[in-house]
Amino acid sequence: MQKSRFVGRFDLSLHINFLRSMDNSPAIEVNSLVKVFAKRDQRTIRAVDGLSIRVPKGSIFGLLGPNGAGKTTTIRILTTLLTPSAGEARVMGYDVVQNPLAVRRQICVVVQENAIELHLSVQNNFRVFGRFHGLHANEIQRRTERISELFGLREYLNEKGMDLSGGLKRRVQVAKTFLIDKPVVFLDEATTGMDTFNKRTTIQAIKEESRKGRTIVLTTHVLDEAEVLCDSIAIMNHGKLVAQGTVDSVKAYGLRMMSLSMLLTEVSSSTLDLVRSYQPSSIDVKNTTLDITVKDDNTALAILAAVRRHTEVRHFEITTASLEDVFIQLLDKKASPS
Ligand SMILES: Nc1ncnc2c1ncn2[C@@H]1O[C@H](COP(=O)(O)OP(=O)(O)O)[C@@H](O)[C@H]1O
Ligand SMILES: [Mg+2]
Repeated sequence: MQKSRFVGRFDLSLHINFLRSMDNSPAIEVNSLVKVFAKRDQRTIRAVDGLSIRVPKGSIFGLLGPNGAGKTTTIRILTTLLTPSAGEARVMGYDVVQNPLAVRRQICVVVQENAIELHLSVQNNFRVFGRFHGLHANEIQRRTERISELFGLREYLNEKGMDLSGGLKRRVQVAKTFLIDKPVVFLDEATTGMDTFNKRTTIQAIKEESRKGRTIVLTTHVLDEAEVLCDSIAIMNHGKLVAQGTVDSVKAYGLRMMSLSMLLTEVSSSTLDLVRSYQPSSIDVKNTTLDITVKDDNTALAILAAVRRHTEVRHFEITTASLEDVFIQLLDKKASPS
């Protein structure tokens, strides 16, 4: 009797998991989202300006963009800490405005500011957090062991929060969110301020967690980080979406871009015309320095050779374009109907 009941429950949970895997509704769905802030001087700012995104369940999604792009504002709306001015957002099917409590039951969040208890040991940070979320003591113990192994925190369990480096504090904070089983995890600039080692451990741990079917939404302004971590990304700037897709599709577009910086004796209009004939993505002149962004290294070299034939180049530098350059390129493409 006892046994068959157990088997019955086991079957049911299998069945539920099967149904879950069949369900391909998105974990996050954002439609034409707007958030307007009133500034002190009466002006307003559209921190989020018509954003639409979709995040499939069980994937790692990166929201990228330069400082001030609107990433944190978007995360705060999705985690019910802010209400949108217009548009709608759903998390695991629940509307963030109509059903904020249901949304909160589905999520776990690391905000951009640090929030660990400095007077408590790492172990007690986990205990307090676990208890707050209704876990039993032995369950907390079991999970603490698992996440401290996963996040490489075993040797720090007895250290107080205040004695940890900034990067380690951040790592404890990220680890905390994986102590409890929420289907969606939000990490706002989770790895900001971490050294390379810290970052690698954390990224590895986040990846491992996502393999269990959790949806992870993170923000970063570092493209490299998103590259190793995310299944798909959205790039935003001035509250708007400029690109969305798999990392590879966005990378193919942006990452071959190069910056060419040349120090000349003077920047004449004929030099500028010459440079323009190569159709660079951007040209910026500061005194006698000419900064150009182009679509690949061959174009950068060709421009450099042409300018050297034309005038004296006192110094030059060719570097991989920054994420910022990629944004500019993407924005230009969006603005022109070509
Ligand atoms: N509470 C607020 N009041 C007024 N302006 C805000 C507020 N929060 C954010 N902003 C503004 O909204 C824009 C987007 O900010 P934020 O979402 O923090 O960007 P990100 O996280 O991408 O750096 C910025 O210009 C910022 O100054
Ligand atoms: Mg931010």
